[in-house]
Amino acid sequence: MPCFLTVRWSRADTGSMRGIWIAPVPTINLAPRKARGIVEGVPVQNHTVLFVDDEVNILKALQRLLRNEPIDVLTASNPSEAFELIERAGPQVIVTDQRMPEMSGVDFLASVRDRHNDVVRMMLTGYTDMTIAVEAINKGEIYRLITKPWNDEELKATLRQAFDHYDLKAEIKRLNSVTREQNFKLQDMNKNLEEKVRERTKQLDGKNTELRTAYIQTIRALAEAIDAKDAYTRGHSERVAVYASRIAREMSLRTELIERVYFAGLLHDVGKIGIPDAIITKPDRLNEEEYKEIMRHPEIGAKILEPVEFLRSVVPCVRHHHEWYDGCSAGYPDRLAGDQIPLPSRVIVVADTVEAMTSDRPYRKALPIDVVVKELHKYSGTQFDPVVVDAFLKLLEEEGESFISKDQKFDIYAFIEG
Ligand SMILES: [Fe+2]
Repeated sequence: MPCFLTVRWSRADTGSMRGIWIAPVPTINLAPRKARGIVEGVPVQNHTVLFVDDEVNILKALQRLLRNEPIDVLTASNPSEAFELIERAGPQVIVTDQRMPEMSGVDFLASVRDRHNDVVRMMLTGYTDMTIAVEAINKGEIYRLITKPWNDEELKATLRQAFDHYDLKAEIKRLNSVTREQNFKLQDMNKNLEEKVRERTKQLDGKNTELRTAYIQTIRALAEAIDAKDAYTRGHSERVAVYASRIAREMSLRTELIERVYFAGLLHDVGKIGIPDAIITKPDRLNEEEYKEIMRHPEIGAKILEPVEFLRSVVPCVRHHHEWYDGCSAGYPDRLAGDQIPLPSRVIVVADTVEAMTSDRPYRKALPIDVVVKELHKYSGTQFDPVVVDAFLKLLEEEGESFISKDQKFDIYAFIEG
């Protein structure tokens, strides 16, 4: 569609140019056009207009009119010659006569529209027939229709407006092209950014795994140091951690709690570091004094772990791993009962008992599993949480004595994810 807004007739008796004016959409600067000069270091050619008319006198008059204007004027006396000049000189504006022997102005402009759509097309005709005007608008999508005889100043102004119109369209086209190019660049940058984010995420995941591994190794080393005080308890903490994790998963505890159960299992006896070796390694049963001393290990353990930020959630689990489920005086250090005792502690006490009973001690050999089961039944609901005992018994039923095999390889994260 042509970009015209209004059509008006100028009055013939005012002396102004007669004919149809079709106002363009953009506001036009009517100031005299300067030579285009140099833009960003690149010389810019003058604007060029091509007049096409079979009357040589008209062409000469137009050349005379624009002699002192900063416009290059081309003339052609027929459409064939005009097309050759368009190809060669690339005018921005074409003004054509309507009635020519070879081809009508309307058909010529329609052909220019098809082949050089950017060029601003105008018709300068002695005929004011409305049919020609409509045809020129529809077929040639013309910018203006001017009638002969023309008013010199108005024709110059119209040409300036036509060049402005051309420049504006060219600028819009250039900006669209820049925008498209920028969009492509942005898409590329986004793609690169996504790749970088993926790469960084992968690196962070790697670092997290390294940290996690270092974290577990540190805790394991601590647990081994505790167990190493007594040859009979070597590997005890790791096994308690493994049994407790498996019971926790059997109880369908959430991942975070299973992880806490594992670390609390590893560290439950860390407080034994503060108990004299003579008591820890005593081959006989402990006397009352010694037993009182060893009863301090959950509190000592909690105190050791308290300052460690990443073990904060494990602290109460360590402190209460010797409480009794019924809250009786045999439990320590706080005689908590039931749900007051952290769930990981209730799991650990069962795992701890199973591990201790099925391991050799200086004063007895490892006890058979059926004795362990009887003991658990006996103290279920008093020392032990019945739910935890049931979970262990169910696992034992499913897995048999392989549950308590001593050389199990265990990776807590593979276990949680599996
Ligand atoms: Fe303990």
